[in-house]
Amino acid sequence: MSAHHQDVPSLLERIATTMSEAIGRVREDLAGADPVVRRSDRADFQCNAPLALAKRVGVPPRDLAAQVVAGLDVEGDAVIAAVEPSGPGFLNVTVTGAAVWEQVAARLADARLGVGVTEPGRRVVIDYSAPNIAKEMHVGHLRTTIIGDSLARVVGFLGADVLRQNHLGDFGTQFGMLIQYLDEHPDAAWHQDELGEGTSAVSALDGLYRSARAEFDADPEFADRSRSRVVALQAGDPATVAVWQDIVAESERSFSAIYDRLNVLLTPEDSVGESFYNPMLGETVRELVDAGLAVESDGALVFYSDEVSGPEGKPVTLMVRKRDGGYGYDTTDLATIRYRLRDLKANRLIYVTDSRQALHFQLVFEAARRAGWLTDGVTAEHAAYGTILGPDGTPFKTRAGGTVRLMDLLDDAVSRARAIVAEKNPDLDAAELDRIAESAGIAAVKYADLSTSRVKDYSFDVDRMVSFAGNTGVYLQYAHARVSSILHHAGDSGTTVDRAVPMHPAERELGLALDAYGAVVTEVADTLEPHRLCGYLYDLARAFTAFYDACPVLKADEPVRGNRVALCRLTARTLGHGLELLGITAPQRM
Ligand code: ARG
Repeated sequence: MSAHHQDVPSLLERIATTMSEAIGRVREDLAGADPVVRRSDRADFQCNAPLALAKRVGVPPRDLAAQVVAGLDVEGDAVIAAVEPSGPGFLNVTVTGAAVWEQVAARLADARLGVGVTEPGRRVVIDYSAPNIAKEMHVGHLRTTIIGDSLARVVGFLGADVLRQNHLGDFGTQFGMLIQYLDEHPDAAWHQDELGEGTSAVSALDGLYRSARAEFDADPEFADRSRSRVVALQAGDPATVAVWQDIVAESERSFSAIYDRLNVLLTPEDSVGESFYNPMLGETVRELVDAGLAVESDGALVFYSDEVSGPEGKPVTLMVRKRDGGYGYDTTDLATIRYRLRDLKANRLIYVTDSRQALHFQLVFEAARRAGWLTDGVTAEHAAYGTILGPDGTPFKTRAGGTVRLMDLLDDAVSRARAIVAEKNPDLDAAELDRIAESAGIAAVKYADLSTSRVKDYSFDVDRMVSFAGNTGVYLQYAHARVSSILHHAGDSGTTVDRAVPMHPAERELGLALDAYGAVVTEVADTLEPHRLCGYLYDLARAFTAFYDACPVLKADEPVRGNRVALCRLTARTLGHGLELLGITAPQRM
């Protein structure tokens, strides 16, 4: 890990501790209560404890506020400059400029920006992306890939042992059909090295699968041969398995091309597809039957939920084993959760899929709890997300009404970003323009997705996404590039901070914003909501802009200049780090 690290508690945390101690001193009956300290627009911070706690002890809030103030030693406090009772029972807290400068210096000196390792040794499984073999990745795989990757970065930064699991759809009867078709059409080109630039193996396979499907529907004899192929595949017939492996490998190469372009962490080592769990399905089912959790219904084995019921009290079930003896998606997820808990020994499970699968996961979690696999202290969470909509407010489709290929969508965003960047910066040479456009276009798509509240639907509006104005990825990249260019001219000034320099209000706002970085990162890990980090970075970029408008940096005299450069340095590092946690690259120039 880092060269040098020391946790830097934020001013908010330190004030909360001070307030909590003061409250405990003046009122024993309130010892340990949350002091409810927040940032405030009336002072630096506000403590809402008197209002929040007054009822509990039967004292008017104003009186409790006065008691708390009496319990504080403001004079002897290195952080607090003043505490003023305000309104019906708030305390406005102002901190000293020296304390803010001290935070800036401490964070700047630390390899982790002073952010603590809060999840050491915690094993977190994150299930995300999970495209289907021989099918092209489409717009439906965008959100899971982007959100899951950001969560993996955030939780990993906080010290957890993250296991990324790409639950590829690599098994099912459709592969029998496809393999049979390939066998009968040896001239069909689908390996990447037989295809031209601009098309992928997976797109060729997707097309061949459609042809196979058509033949299956039209020709009963082909359908029979396909069914025998499924049997051969499941029985492990070497020639059939070899083709299947080839299909999986070629598809994965195509997925990797998208992952590289999206700058996500997924590698082939993270692929643990559905087929991996095949050998465990039998035992899993047996265990559920023995526990009385899988029961017969119409020749099938099903799991009945105790917790959820359908319309008119109809039971809600998971299909554990079909009537024909086959196993499907539900069984695989039961074996998967059992494996992740029992063999991988996960402490936390996160599944990133769209919200239409909410019931499925609720039932899988319930079954795992009742089977004794999911125990207290271990959490299973469905990080559900909404649908990407087109301009007409219905699920996003191509003009012809087809599914949008992920590659096409990215190409489109990059070409629009290119136009915007070229306009803003006409003297970039072509190679650099390409590089920046790629980075900005991908950032635009990722940020637009991450910055909307996860569970909400959002509409895919490329022009808004690539804009330099507003809460966009491009705006943040641009803010980062702007600070970087100031630093480029700053020499080695700003590596130390003079605590005695009086603070301008815009410096103070920026310093306090920088000090709150760790809190938001922890919040994202707890809530699995990356949009909180996006909102933070956007506010930080605006605080920087306000500071830069009000406070000349390079033209100022020392020691003011040095302190301002230090603020710029910490801003650049915090923006860059935050963007990295979102999986967005931050170019030095835009
Ligand atoms: N392959 C599935 C799809 O494309 C998603 C799998 C999600 N993960 C899981 N463990 N079920 O919809």
